[in-house]
Formats: sequence, structure tokens, C-alpha cells
Amino acid sequence: MLAGQTIADPPSFLARPDLFRQAAFIDGAWVEAEARLAVRNPANNAVIGVTPNLGAAETILAVEAAERAFQSWRKLTGKARGAILRRWFDLIIANSDDLAGLLTLEQGKPLAEARGEIQYAASFIEWFAEEAKRIYGETIPGHEPGRRQMVIKQPVGVVAAVTPWNFPAAMITRKVAPALAVGCTVVLKPSELTPFTALALAFLAREAGLPAGAFNIVTGEAPPIGDVLTTDPRIKKFTFTGSTPVGKMLAAKCMATVKRVSLELGGNAPLIVFDDADLDKAVEGAISSKFRNTGQTCVCANRLLVQAGIHDAFAAKLTARVAGFVVGDGLQGPTDQGPLINEAAVAKVRGHVEDAKHGGARVLIGGESLEGAGHFFAPTVLVDVTPRMRMSREETFGPVAGLIRFETEEEAVSIANATSAGLAAYFFTRDVNRAWRVGEALEAGMVGINTGQVSSETAPFGGVKESGLGREGAHYGADEFVELKLLSSDIND
Ligand code: SIN
Repeated sequence: MLAGQTIADPPSFLARPDLFRQAAFIDGAWVEAEARLAVRNPANNAVIGVTPNLGAAETILAVEAAERAFQSWRKLTGKARGAILRRWFDLIIANSDDLAGLLTLEQGKPLAEARGEIQYAASFIEWFAEEAKRIYGETIPGHEPGRRQMVIKQPVGVVAAVTPWNFPAAMITRKVAPALAVGCTVVLKPSELTPFTALALAFLAREAGLPAGAFNIVTGEAPPIGDVLTTDPRIKKFTFTGSTPVGKMLAAKCMATVKRVSLELGGNAPLIVFDDADLDKAVEGAISSKFRNTGQTCVCANRLLVQAGIHDAFAAKLTARVAGFVVGDGLQGPTDQGPLINEAAVAKVRGHVEDAKHGGARVLIGGESLEGAGHFFAPTVLVDVTPRMRMSREETFGPVAGLIRFETEEEAVSIANATSAGLAAYFFTRDVNRAWRVGEALEAGMVGINTGQVSSETAPFGGVKESGLGREGAHYGADEFVELKLLSSDIND
């Protein structure tokens, strides 16, 4: 924490320097503080700027503002709320170059990927701007003469959202857009590592006409803010994306006031390549899943299970693709792989690779961190990885593809399911019978068949087992922010 550190100048690449906000956003106003946190560029460790390190008192002010705003926001028609969301979407698209630049600056992903994330983030706002008009209830025939029953959907109230650093835009809009669409208001705590994308999004939301208090952002270290967000009885819904241990701890705190809870937690995705797979498709699928965001994605393939007959050809082709990666600062020219978020992330990845090597795995390419001020780890392919190694049991969250050789379909499914996580799974086959069999057998909320990508605004995102509760995106995403209410009426027929 840096007390009194001066506010930095906006990055020179911004066409709109006013998008760079070094203040929290509460009740429609920008809030500064003496206590500040420095935000660093993971590509070179330089300080980009500062945000206020707010605590419980400011978080309570944000909750109060959200509660006040809820009284009028909920009364607007879905069409009126949708129109504001639509303007927000248009502004994000119009400013997408600036937003992508900010995102790369604070998070590190290559600029092309950051542009993709801004489009992806905006797509949730567009989708829920449309859905706002379609929060349909149901009529149910009565159980006795004269009985009329109607189920209506009402917004739950004030929503608290806590979002991670790996997708500083999309993990926000995937929660905030459905919440606002159905009539809720929001207090958001973005990751302290990547707050500037969040603050720029809030700036554009206000410009789009979102009323004061409907969307508040509290910046700072997690514990005091998280305490209020999980215990204040005025918050009716808590939604979190992050690690499984932290999600469990926060969800437990929410139970004292019986909040609705949605959790998008860690994964340990298997990606299975069967002998009958299209080799090129399997390699491209593995690249797009494993190396997206330099491997820092909850749905990244974490275990690559490759059948014996295709194993060596797959390993060779994957290694050749990885050898062509350009690694570097995404703002300094075209790159395929950026830095990891910080030194702790590099140390974890290094630990997984060392553990695997110690257990007999062989490095085909990469295998070590790169020299310099930034947090870079060389894109890596390992073979002879086993299910007992650390990289098979924990999320590596880095650019490391560890290949596990298997013989039979049963063996592959059994290894794939031998984890407490159940977010995503992928497999590659040309056998339609196997596609159904394995698709149904894998214990995951999302299964990619002959693809390494399953995410879009049209599809439900979420996990089973210890990977989470609830779904985001698609029409299911709105259900997480409404209560069902039964209106049961006795009339004289
Ligand atoms: C995540 O895995 O952290 C989110 C990725 C996505 O939405 O595709």
C-alpha cells in the first residue's frame, strides 16, 4: 500500500484520457482517498497508477447508495433498463481500443486477446439488454375451483459482486448486466490487481445514463470490503468468480444472512484426444484452450490426456505450434503469450514443472521462467506426466501443457473425472457414438466436443462439483438475480 502516492498521468495511448479513473465509484461520484494501492503492469512491473484502498465504511456507503437506487431502478420497465444497457454496450464498442489497451496494461494479455475480451464483455451487455424485456413468469392451473396461480419474477435487490484479475472486463459484465437488466443494483469489488478496466466500464455506464447508485465500485484490499459484502443484510445476492478455497469461505459467511449465492470457482479441465481424432483440429483446440490468456483461465485445459496411438504425433505437432509463439509485452507489438499476473504465479508454475520433472516428466519445450522485470514463463510442453503429479491435481494457471498418455476410453474418463473440480472438459473424436458416450460421462458443467472453446454470451457458463453454483450468461444468467413469487388468488367463480 502506498499512502499519499501521487495520481499518475493517463496512459498516452488513450484517445479518451478521461477513461483512466484512479478513484472508486460510489453513488455516481468518484471517491478518492489518502490510502492508496499501486497497480503494476505485469509485463515490466512498472506502476501504472493508484486506486483508493477503501474499507468497511466506504463499502457501507456503497451498499446504502445501491439500496436507494434499487427503489427506482426496479420500477423501470425492462424495456427502459434495456435501452440504457444498450447505450452502455454501444459506448463500450465505440471505446474498445482504449478499453483493450487499459486491459493489456494492467492484466498483461496480448492486445488482440484484450480486444477479444472487450467484445466478449460487451456481448453480455447486449444480450441482457435484450433479455430485460423477457423476464417472464408463469401461470399455473389452480389445484381447486376458484384458485388462480401466477408466478412472477422479481429482482432480488442489492447484489454484491467480487471479480477476478484474469478477465477484468468480461467477468464483470457477465454478472452486472443480468443483475441490472432484471432490476437489481450492484456493488462491485474488482480485483485490486486490475481495477482500471472496471472503473472505465463504470465511467461509460454513467455516460450511458445509468442512474447514480445503480452500479458502484469499491476499490481496495479484499478483507474489509469482502466482510461487508458477505454480511450486510441489505445485500440479497452475492456473486463471486475466483478460487475454490476463497469462494467456499465467502459463501459460508453469506449464510448467516441467507444470501443467494452464485460461485464460479476453479477448474481442472481435462482435454482428451482419442486415436480417432482429427489431429490438426485437436492441436488447434488444445492451443486455444490451454494457452488462452497464457493459461490463466478457469476453463483452460489443465490435463491433456492423449491416447497412445496418436500421442507422439500430437506431442510433436503441439510442440511445433508452441515453438512459434511470440512471448512479450502485448503493448509492444503482436504477441501470442503475455506475462503471468505476478511473481507468485510464476513461482507456482515453476513449482508444478519442477515437481513433474522430478516425477519423470520430460520437457519438450520451455520449462522455465524468462529473465527480466516482467513475470514471464516460457510456453511449455511436457510428456510422461501422470495423474498423481501436482500439475494434474491442481490448476497450474500458466502456459504449461502436460501430456498424460492413456490406452482406453474407460481409463480416460476415469482419470478425467478423478477430481473435485467440474467446470469444463474437452475431447476430440470422430466417432459419433463415442461423442455422446463420453460427453454424457464427463463430470463437468461445460463439455467441448471437437473444440477448445465453449464460452459465449448465448451459452450457460458454470460448473458442477466444487467448481461452483449457478450459471452465468444465456437466459439462465438472469435467473440468478430474480426471486420467484407465487400470487395465489381465491376468486368467486
Ligand atoms: C474463466 O475461466 O475465468 C472465464 C473464462 C471464460 O469466460 O471463458
